[in-house]
Amino acid sequence: MEIIIVPSAEDVGPAAAARIAAVVREDPGATIGLATGSSPQGVYADLAARAAAGEISFAAASGFALDEYVGIPAEHPESYVQVLATSVVGPLGFAPDRVHVPDGRATDLAAAARAYEDAIVAAGGIDLQILGVGTNGHIGFNEPTSSLSSRTRIKTLAERTRADNARFFATPEEVPTHCITQGLGTILDAGELLLVANGEAKAAAVAAAVEGPLTSFVPASVLQLHRRATVVVDEAAASRLALADYYRFTYDNKPQWQRW
Ligand code: F6R
Repeated sequence: MEIIIVPSAEDVGPAAAARIAAVVREDPGATIGLATGSSPQGVYADLAARAAAGEISFAAASGFALDEYVGIPAEHPESYVQVLATSVVGPLGFAPDRVHVPDGRATDLAAAARAYEDAIVAAGGIDLQILGVGTNGHIGFNEPTSSLSSRTRIKTLAERTRADNARFFATPEEVPTHCITQGLGTILDAGELLLVANGEAKAAAVAAAVEGPLTSFVPASVLQLHRRATVVVDEAAASRLALADYYRFTYDNKPQWQRW
């Protein structure tokens, strides 16, 4: 795992976007796994600026959302189909029909989850998966004790997650209780994982994911199983990493041929 510590929250987006830009330049038809939430917004803003400058194009790329709420309409501003349309599809210039989101409105949610999993396989898999991390260590909405080999399925949101996400809704009660999320096994199948986090509130989860034991109690610890996982964090989110100095030294002394 590579840990990149950048000075401030504003530096996380550009650092992570540089990697995604390199992937899309090398393969314009790449498939990108798209996280929502606040953590990757700086990544998307930086990629949108690069696309506007003509430096990269997502016109031939595909996207798969990590997850979607169950129980709110597609038109709800916090449905991930809306959030991605507003902050990713339009600004980055994805073809709308090549960006997929699990159907949280399906009458048969289990079938919708299986269909989503099949669609990822049919697209040839996800080349690079963008991830945030919950304060409880979740990735996607794989809450603590999720099976390490889980596939896309319905999950119940943890009380902590509902409280954390209440900031996006008018009242805490409005936060959905359920979702469809890519599983930890689904995420591990991606060619590359790129997790971004900033702020003191994420420091414990980041330390547990990177340096703690591999455990379903900290779903983000599955990054330790992946052969190509990168974590980009600001100083605050890195503040509980025991080996922070080693990660800084490694990055600062990275040979040119290893750089993005
Ligand atoms: C979002 C997702 C979640 C978030 C996590 C952190 O699609 O799957 O795992 O990445 O809850 O959310 P923020 O970035 O809002 O702190």
